[in-house]
Parts: sequence; structure tokens; C-alpha cells
Amino acid sequence: MTNPELSVTGANLGQLDVDTVVCWVPEGSARLSGHAAAVDRATDGALALMIRDGLVTGRAGETTVLHGGKTRAKRIVVAGAGKAEAFDVHAERRAAGNLARTLRGMDAGRVAWSTQGYATGSVDPAVAAAARSEGVLMGLYRFDKHHTKEADRPRGTVISVAFVEANARTVAAAQRGVAQGAALAEATNFARDLSNEPANLMTPTIVATHAQEMAAREGLECTIIERAEAERLGMGSYLSVANGSHQPPKFIVLRYKARGSQPPIALIGKGITFDTGGTSIKPAAGMERMKGDMSGAAAVLGAMMAIARLKPSVSVLGVAPCTENMPGGGATKPGDVVYAMDGQSIEVINTDAEGRLILADGVAYARQQGATPLIDVATLTGAINVALGKVRYGVHTNNDGLMAELERAAELSGEKLWRMPMDKEYEEQIKSDVADVKNTGGAPAGSITGAKLIEKFAGDTPWAHLDIAGVMDVERDRGEWVKGMSGQPVRTLVHLVLNRSK
Ligand code: BES
Ligand code: ZN
Ligand code: MN
Repeated sequence: MTNPELSVTGANLGQLDVDTVVCWVPEGSARLSGHAAAVDRATDGALALMIRDGLVTGRAGETTVLHGGKTRAKRIVVAGAGKAEAFDVHAERRAAGNLARTLRGMDAGRVAWSTQGYATGSVDPAVAAAARSEGVLMGLYRFDKHHTKEADRPRGTVISVAFVEANARTVAAAQRGVAQGAALAEATNFARDLSNEPANLMTPTIVATHAQEMAAREGLECTIIERAEAERLGMGSYLSVANGSHQPPKFIVLRYKARGSQPPIALIGKGITFDTGGTSIKPAAGMERMKGDMSGAAAVLGAMMAIARLKPSVSVLGVAPCTENMPGGGATKPGDVVYAMDGQSIEVINTDAEGRLILADGVAYARQQGATPLIDVATLTGAINVALGKVRYGVHTNNDGLMAELERAAELSGEKLWRMPMDKEYEEQIKSDVADVKNTGGAPAGSITGAKLIEKFAGDTPWAHLDIAGVMDVERDRGEWVKGMSGQPVRTLVHLVLNRSK
């Protein structure tokens, strides 16, 4: 898939040398104005007649194709913007994603896209432009590289999109917004690519290679901690998960360095490239989904990519412990006791609760590096899916301020999250008779007891754990979301970092 080229112009909508012109019509508008009125004039009043006769209603998602008329395009697409009350930046991102796919389906080619019709006046033009760009680039995402037959790939292309600002004064701001939105969308699509790839083609070694290539391309530092080095560092909890696999584990460390000596923010992602459950093996049905168990690591790699491009004034440490969880002869057995790098011991009751084992060392490592706050992202538990479904991801944190920052960041990205309780009483469930802690606490409050284990490795450092197991994938195309791996929470992580940079 090649992305369409995005640009911004203040030129006259009908005079641009394009194949397709897009304008927006709100639901229930009596009178056409701005770009919609210009389209009406270019079609000798056809648009107004179609509205009068109920052929164009302006309902969200409606698209009507007209002849290009007196514009230079061969077609005009009139897109329904929906009810005025719902005209916000999130509605615009969603509408842009849906429309972009419709345009691809009609082989729209070079597109001039009016930016009038949404949130006009009330939203910063840069913020609106970013959302619109995210919608287009995320909405057009496809993972079709393994379809060898042309017929199985989507037909049609969107070659370029020129966003047409009605007012020349907003062009510069919109250009800044497009640059930011494109960086966020491309980073999200990069994370989606890593997560969608099957596990035989995305081993820890391959993830590490992608991290190194991305870092070299974007100007980040990248170090891979190999097994021998991880042994020297005492990462026994992380390494215990790799014991049953023939694939060498790779502990990825990425560094974005801003000027100054402030400690970095740490982003730590679970990188299980395939989760069979290990000795505590999973049932066969649906196990293929576990190729996505490195979505946390993918999100961290994606976030680091966008951060490298957007250059905030705060340093960021990206950590992604990667390994398979396999039931080979050397695999960890229930009852085994392992030691993390900070010296704490863990009794492994269930080898399928492996995410917290690799994050114990991932978080301990980031903390030892002096990073603060620590934010880990993981497809940790089926329990979070039971609690919150595919709508919101769970946030478990020891810090109210960090929660507020995550909420502000998610308000910008449009992602949905929810704070989970972390009462001290939940710790009772993970007390072990033989070690400092055990890695399962039974079915009740399953996402919380998982978080409670990780919290022990954050110590007194501000920390948040994002359990994305429910939202790691999407079941159908809608707006910026495309069936397959979601690429959440790349944009929220980046917004959190950018907000600290201001
Ligand atoms: N990777 C899974 C969690 C998961 C489930 C992610 C569904 C995405 C979709 C995790 O490693 C796991 O197996 N968790 C166990 C924990 C249990 C053994 C305490 C679970 O949720 O059942
Ligand atoms: Zn897992
Ligand atoms: Mn597991």
C-alpha cells in the first residue's frame, strides 16, 4: 500500500487540476454556503435540486457522485457531514476514514478535498487538519502483502489529497496539522504492520531488525540486549519465558534524546511474538490471534517513530522485551521460581501469565535507567476484555497526575480508556508461599492482579499500565479503524509526550 500524498491549499476548489472534488453537506441544511454553494454553481444548481428532492440528505456516511460540471475534475463527491451537533474533531477523523475508503473504491485518483463543513470556526485548524489526515491515512491502511492474487487486493487508488482551506489565513496552520497527523498515522500503520504479520515472519529477531532499521531511518539510538547480556543483567523473569522457544529473545532499547538532562519518560511494550501459553498451553481455538501478543511492543516502536519525527523537548526511552512463549523441552514449569533483575522473586503458577514476567524486567530495567514516569503497554489479560470489551482499554496506575495526563492525551487521539481500581487488598491474591509474589491471582479481578504484579517492579516511581488485550484488534472497518490489528495506543502515547513538551 502506498499512502496518498497529502497537501494543503487555499486555491479555488473548482480550479484545481484533479480527478475528484469533495465537498461536505450537513444534514438538514436549508441553504448551501461556501464550497457546497460553489459546487452547486458548478453543476448549474443540480446539488440544490437534489437536496430539495431528498436525493442528497447530508446524513453522516452518505456519498453522492455528481459529474464534475464546470470544475476541472471529472467527478464531484458530495459527502454527508451528519448533524451539526456532532461536528467535532473526532467525527471528522471518523468521516475522513470512511470517505477515504469510498474514494479508493471509486478510483478517485487525485482529490481536492474541501475542509469546510466540520466544526468550522470552533476547532483550531491545525487540530482539525491533523484529525482529518489521521482519518485518511489510517482509514486507507491495508495489510494485504501476503495476497498473491491481484483480485484479493482492493481495487482503485487515491493518489493524492489536497485539503482545500476556504480561508488563506488557515493554510499554514493546516499544513502543520497535516504534518503531525501524517506522522501519527504512519507510526500507527507501522505498528499495525508489525502486529498483523504472522508469528513465523515476525520473530523476536525480525522485530529487532525492524526496530534497528526504523531507528537508523528516524535518527534514534537502538540497542538490542541479547540473551547473554540479559543473563548478566539478571533478567531471569524475562528469560524464563524464552526457555521453551528455539527463537533467541531480543530485548529492544530505543532512545530519543532531547537537549537537557531531564530524566526520560519510559514507554515499555510487551513483545510476545507468539503466545502458545507455554507449558500451561492454550486451547487451539482462536490461538492464531496470539500473533498479536506483541502489540504493546509494536505500539512502543510506533510511538518512538512519531516522537523521532515530531521532536519534543523531552527525552523518551522505549523498551520492548521480545520473546516467544513456547512449550519446548526447556520451558518453565508451573511452580518454578524466577528472579527479576531487581532481585525480586516470582513463583510461576501459570506459564500463560507470561506478559507480567517479561514486563517485570522491562519495568525494572527502565526504572534502573532513571526513567520517570514508567508507562507499560501490554495485551496482558483476557480479563480486561471481559471488563471493558473492545471499546476502552484499561489503565492501572499508582499516580493520579499521570492518569490525568493519559486522559488529556486520549482526548486528543480519540482513543478511549478507563481507570481500573488498584486497592491494596488486591495484592492478597498474588501472595506466594515460596516467593515474593506469584504470577496469577485467580479469575476475580484478573486484569488488576496482573497489574499488581507489575506495580511491584515500578516501586515508588510514577507508573501506568495500559492493558490493551481487548482493543488490540478491530472486527470491521469503521472510520480510522480497519479490520485487523488496531495500532492502539500509539497516538495517545505520543500526545502524552508532546503535551509534556509544551
Ligand atoms: N496474551 C494473553 C492475553 C490476551 C488474551 C491477549 C486475549 C489478547 C487477547 C496473556 O498472556 C494471557 O494468556 N493471559 C492469561 C492470564 C491468566 C493465565 C492469569 C489470561 O488472560 O487468561
Ligand atoms: Zn500473552
Ligand atoms: Mn499468555
